[in-house]
Amino acid sequence: MKMIKIILSAVLSFCACMVQAQPLIVKADKPAATIRPTMWGIFFEDINLAADGGLYAELVKNRSFEFFNPLMGWAIQQATPATGSILVTNRLETDSANPRYIRVTRNTTTGKFGLTNEGFRGMGIKQNEQYNFTVWAKNETGSITLHVQLIDSTGKVLGESQSITISGNDWKQYKTSFAAGATELKAKLNVWFEGQGVADFDMISLFPQHTWKERPNGLRADLVQLLADMKPGFIRFPGGCIVEGRDLANRYQWKKTVGPVEERKVIVNRWNTEFAHRQTPDYFQSFGLGFYEYFQLAEDIGASPLPILNCGMACQFNSAEVVDTTQLHPYIQDALDLIEFANGDVSTKWGHLRAAMGHPAPFNLKLMGVGNEQWGPQYVERYKIFTKAIKSKYPDIELVNSTGPDPDGEKFDFLNDTLRALHADILDEHYYRPASWFQNNAGRYDNYDRNGPKIFAGEYAAHSVSTVSPLNKNNWLCALSEAAFMTGLERNADVVIMTSYAPLFAHVDGWQWTPDLIWFNNLYSYGTPDYYVQQLFACNKGTNVVPVTSNNEALKGKDSLYASAVTDAAANELILKIVNASAGTVSKQISIDSKKKLSAKAMVITLQNNDPDAVNSIESPQNVSPQTSEADVKGRRLNIILSPYSFTVIRIKMQ
Ligand code: AHR
Repeated sequence: MKMIKIILSAVLSFCACMVQAQPLIVKADKPAATIRPTMWGIFFEDINLAADGGLYAELVKNRSFEFFNPLMGWAIQQATPATGSILVTNRLETDSANPRYIRVTRNTTTGKFGLTNEGFRGMGIKQNEQYNFTVWAKNETGSITLHVQLIDSTGKVLGESQSITISGNDWKQYKTSFAAGATELKAKLNVWFEGQGVADFDMISLFPQHTWKERPNGLRADLVQLLADMKPGFIRFPGGCIVEGRDLANRYQWKKTVGPVEERKVIVNRWNTEFAHRQTPDYFQSFGLGFYEYFQLAEDIGASPLPILNCGMACQFNSAEVVDTTQLHPYIQDALDLIEFANGDVSTKWGHLRAAMGHPAPFNLKLMGVGNEQWGPQYVERYKIFTKAIKSKYPDIELVNSTGPDPDGEKFDFLNDTLRALHADILDEHYYRPASWFQNNAGRYDNYDRNGPKIFAGEYAAHSVSTVSPLNKNNWLCALSEAAFMTGLERNADVVIMTSYAPLFAHVDGWQWTPDLIWFNNLYSYGTPDYYVQQLFACNKGTNVVPVTSNNEALKGKDSLYASAVTDAAANELILKIVNASAGTVSKQISIDSKKKLSAKAMVITLQNNDPDAVNSIESPQNVSPQTSEADVKGRRLNIILSPYSFTVIRIKMQ
């Protein structure tokens, strides 16, 4: 009986391992296309609390009282009988960017009076870390002091500042710093007003001292680190539909996001009430993370900046409002001025502002998007006007142009045909589609016109249920299918010059759209399986595409196998990427056609899970993550076992 079992299990394991007779042939000495350094990038949009409440490390929500409800996020703490009052006051005539402040009146020196801020679904506080509190204030009468406390959900004090006395009746910024004694995921901030009198307060702010590169007004270090670890070739910002706004008044205007933070005008975030199933009424844009910070971030992580600007069109899924073409001037001027802000000499108006903000050297802007996900003849009309104006002043700036929200159909065909005829530089294609679409479209670009515009696969993600369904998951099948598709992008790197998954970030308690590349709560963050797919492509991008075939054909789905290969001229390496999207193990012989000597060992990096539904999470961030091993290279051959549902990257040194 025991013997029968052993024989049976041997037969079964033989069947599970489908030996592939046809070897994979890699022509390592036949570079087919150069891979641009920008090939694999990232798409940032302030959706899902990606900026305020996410990347931007500010812990106080509604710090300047500019939300529709001026005290949203704040609760008044009042003793009985009443000890004080808050008067929301508006100075629109003298400060249109930051009109509101609060006037605090304390009637008596005894009894507590204050405000509590709830943060962005709480505040993530870490034991022994230092917190920097700042506030703008002026004294009116009497003497008011304040001190602040971080508290946990039971009201226990985690850290407390010294008292600040407000003096003089001109607006001044006051600062204090204190340490937290414990870690808390959902802390709150108490601001206690003491003394007797009247004083005015604005921009009540709390930052962790530890931010990315320890910058004040900085970014969350763990989130930037995840971006840096991807080695992205570019960063597209600030979106997405946020560029367009639900209507034109709500569009993104970069000039209102630079200069002192207290002068940046807060506006509602367009994702605030976009989806009935994920309403986020407290979602606004403080622009503390503004265009200067985006350029700085790009530089920090070695990515080319790719700003996208409004082209006089609001979101066509919402109001679809457009600017009269005779009145496009301010929009075009914004585009021209942005180039000056990024690249201009410090003697120019906008170059001077960049220098005054701390960056005299240019940001080396080479790419710019005109419009986000626009469609129809109204886009073509505006595209022509923008292109003429930008190209006549800055002929070397490459422009990214929309092909609409879908990768096919009437809207896509119209813009694809029209913009090709107009010799557009780069066409931005978007695909939010099921996993099967990604597997079936790995050959999408094989027959694209080699002489036409280049392609930016600007927004894509496999959606496990359906587009914008709140049930979509960042599961392994979706990520693996994206990897399969990306081998096709890589094979066609002569046409596809930039690609980015979208969206980038999501707060686990504050998201509107799923799936997303990186998820976080107030303390921790993790990369999804899709993140690791992106990272493996970007960190193994090489410099030249080389042909990889089986039976003289590119691997783009036959037997659920996909492959692409590149060489890296600087590292002198061959890098192969192979996806096995089947449920079975595959054994493959790889034969490398090259005059160069190959090293005896190959590095093998595998992303794999037997469960297509597997996901990563805050609790299990590495459930699907890359594992590294070695394989023997015998002369010009190696044998590789491709596990079920696996994405394998093989690096071989060549001399
Ligand atoms: O990525 C989310 C949204 O999808 C983007 O804002 C928009 O461009 C697309 O429709």
